[in-house]
Amino acid sequence: MNPGLLPLDWLLGTWECDEPGEGCFPTIKPFRYTETLHFSHVGQPVINFMFNAFHAESKKPLHRECGFIRMQPGTNRVAFIIAQNSGLVEIEEGELTGQQLNLQTQSLARVSFAREPHVQQICRVFQLRPDGKLEQTVSMATDNQPLVQHLHIIYRRAS
Ligand code: HEM
Repeated sequence: MNPGLLPLDWLLGTWECDEPGEGCFPTIKPFRYTETLHFSHVGQPVINFMFNAFHAESKKPLHRECGFIRMQPGTNRVAFIIAQNSGLVEIEEGELTGQQLNLQTQSLARVSFAREPHVQQICRVFQLRPDGKLEQTVSMATDNQPLVQHLHIIYRRAS
């Protein structure tokens, strides 16, 4: 692994959820979902990732994201470069503290015909827990809602 990425080596591999994750937002019906995360590298100072989410009951594929993670050399600053199947592309940046990543939208663009309401801001926390499980919490603000939680899920390492 590229030495510049060693502080993020705890992310590498495949993660599957233990229990379905919980989705909510003031404007939608609460829902449950499953999700698999893959983090890999090819020796570059970059982690490649893919997140694939499914409806917990129907197993229908839903949200998908993929992208790259970079770290600013010599700092704890982390950037996620993300493409989402909803037509959103995004850069999130933040800090790595121990084995917790706190990220916020730095820039955001979408296809001209993206469904409304448009998301305006995303905050995400990844945390490796003392029991070895990985937790992700996502909050978002849209055109008509302030920043509030959309997703919460816990994964166990699958490989
Ligand atoms: C709804 C954004 C991840 C499932 C929504 C809405 C937005 C949004 C803007 C519409 C809210 C409204 O109508 O007021 C995002 C963003 C995500 C994300 C930015 C990632 C950062 C996910 C994931 C799932 C998911 C991982 C898992 C399955 C849903 C569902 C709805 C929804 C089921 C309600 C029905 C629908 O509008 O399709 N999301 N979402 N989202 N999201 Fe997400």
